[in-house]
Amino acid sequence: MNDPDKDMLEAALADLSLPDGTPLVGSGRIAGLGLSGNRVNLSILTTPAEAPTLATLRDAAEARLRTLPGVSNAFVVLTAETPAAAKAPPQLGTPKSAPKPAPKADPLAAIRHVVAVASGKGGVGKSTTTVNLALGLAAQGLKVGVLDADIYGPSLPTLLGLHGKPQANGRKLVPMQAYGLRAMSMGFLVDPETAMVWRGPMIMSAITQMMADVDWGALDVLLVDMPPGTGDAQLALAQGTRLSGAVIVSTPQDLSLIDARRGITMFRKVDVPILGIVENMAHFICPDCGGSHAIFGQGGAQAEADRLGVPFLGAVPLTMDLRAASDAGQPITARDPDGPLGRLYQNMARSLLAGLTPNLRANGPTLT
Ligand SMILES: Nc1ncnc2c1ncn2[C@@H]1O[C@H](COP(=O)(O)OP(=O)(O)OP(=O)(O)O)[C@@H](O)[C@H]1O
Ligand SMILES: [Mg+2]
Repeated sequence: MNDPDKDMLEAALADLSLPDGTPLVGSGRIAGLGLSGNRVNLSILTTPAEAPTLATLRDAAEARLRTLPGVSNAFVVLTAETPAAAKAPPQLGTPKSAPKPAPKADPLAAIRHVVAVASGKGGVGKSTTTVNLALGLAAQGLKVGVLDADIYGPSLPTLLGLHGKPQANGRKLVPMQAYGLRAMSMGFLVDPETAMVWRGPMIMSAITQMMADVDWGALDVLLVDMPPGTGDAQLALAQGTRLSGAVIVSTPQDLSLIDARRGITMFRKVDVPILGIVENMAHFICPDCGGSHAIFGQGGAQAEADRLGVPFLGAVPLTMDLRAASDAGQPITARDPDGPLGRLYQNMARSLLAGLTPNLRANGPTLT
């Protein structure tokens, strides 16, 4: 069945070619092309070695797509498929002393700490934790950003009550703002259905590029809501992003803890320090009787943290208030900063900061 949008988009790209003359449409290089509201997202497969030669094509594609009726903006992402492909083939006859290409400027240079929030499995409260910890950090006077790298199920827009799309300023996207946080979601750029079939390195390169294409400004901490699990996408992200550390979110059940352990092992493998474990849905606070019930058992994450020698940041109860606040796009730490949950997240943020503090203290937080 024909998709009229796709036909229109492909028609706009019809006369564009790859550097070797192959027409782009039909080359098998289009990993995703779609209309999302009045924005077009296009992903072109490439290798890091080849990517610079595709800059002109990328600009031309953006220009063509932007002129289409009903389209206000277009974003073209170059994504690399495999790390092996990323290596340029050895050049025969190249002298050993050939000058190395100048290292690229770190697009995240103005961000002091990039911290991953990860979980071994989905649905344990990773996004809820990311947003509330970010607000807890902001309450300490830090400049904080949140990046929703969970392209399979982006949820930051809902959690932060963000509507609409980020604006572009030249080639850079301006992060959205909510409750004093700067926020960006992969969901704005990549259609989750497209991303579903992407393998790790492709996700990694799309995310790295998105980080570079976002005008974050100076940040003390950027919290990254990782895709759930410990597959190659997560490994590629852990490896390829300049992470100061990772926070692991787990529920108290044994099964969830086994997954959390896998997450910890993965980060340790790539030398990313674990800044702490958050136990979520630790116990149920009954709205009727006010009693606390340990539905999933108790103390599992704390014991696991002790066993593994990583900091335990705290235990968050399962409460209707927290869920209702999240669903309403008003995270509990913003809605009720002095309530028990708001204070809990701020305490956890302080403990998290303690793991990062040497660096932050040395430079002083960027308070303005
Ligand atoms: N402590 C809590 N008390 C009550 N509800 C919670 C709590 N933590 C999370 N939730 C709810 O559980 C659901 C899943 O949480 P969340 O989206 O944060 O998990 P996730 O790990 O990011 O999930 P996914 O893997 O789908 O991205 C949401 O509806 C959220 O509001
Ligand atoms: Mg999530």
